[in-house]
Amino acid sequence: MTIGMNKVLVIGIGLFVSCLLLQCEQVDGKEYIVGDEKRWSPDANLTQWTEGKKFKAGDVLVFKYKDPLLMVAELRDTYLFEKCALYSPGLIELYTSGNDHVVLEKGTIHFAPYTPPYCENGMKLTVHVE
Ligand SMILES: *[C@@H]1O[C@H](CO)[C@@H](O)[C@H](O)[C@H]1NC(C)=O
Repeated sequence: MTIGMNKVLVIGIGLFVSCLLLQCEQVDGKEYIVGDEKRWSPDANLTQWTEGKKFKAGDVLVFKYKDPLLMVAELRDTYLFEKCALYSPGLIELYTSGNDHVVLEKGTIHFAPYTPPYCENGMKLTVHVE
C-alpha cells in the first residue's frame, strides 16, 4: 500500500514538473462556442461575439453547425481573407465535422464558411490570440 501511494506521489510530482516545463497552457484553456446560442450561422453577429473576449493560446473555439455548406476555412493571411480567397494558398485548414474544435495558436486567425457566398455576405470571424 505504501509503495502504491509513493508511486502515485512520484507520478503526481512528475506531471506537475512537466506541466511547469511545458507551461501547460492547454490545461487551463477556455472553450468558446462560436456565436453562443446562434452557433456558427449567418444569424450570429460574430463581430459582436468577439467583443470583450480575450483569446489565449490553448483556448478552443467550437464551431457548431448542421449545414455542411458552413464548413469552416481557417486563414492567417488578412489580405486574402478580406478578399474571401478562402482556397489555397491562403487556406490553412478546413473543418467539416459540424462540431469542430479548433485549438488557438498565438497571432491573428481568420475564419469563414468555405462555401460562397457566406464570406462575401460578411459571415467572417477574426480572433487575435495572445
Ligand atoms: C454587429 O454588432 C456590431 C457591434 O455591436 C454592430 O456595430 C453591427 O451593426 C452589428 N451587425 C449586424 C449585422 O447586426
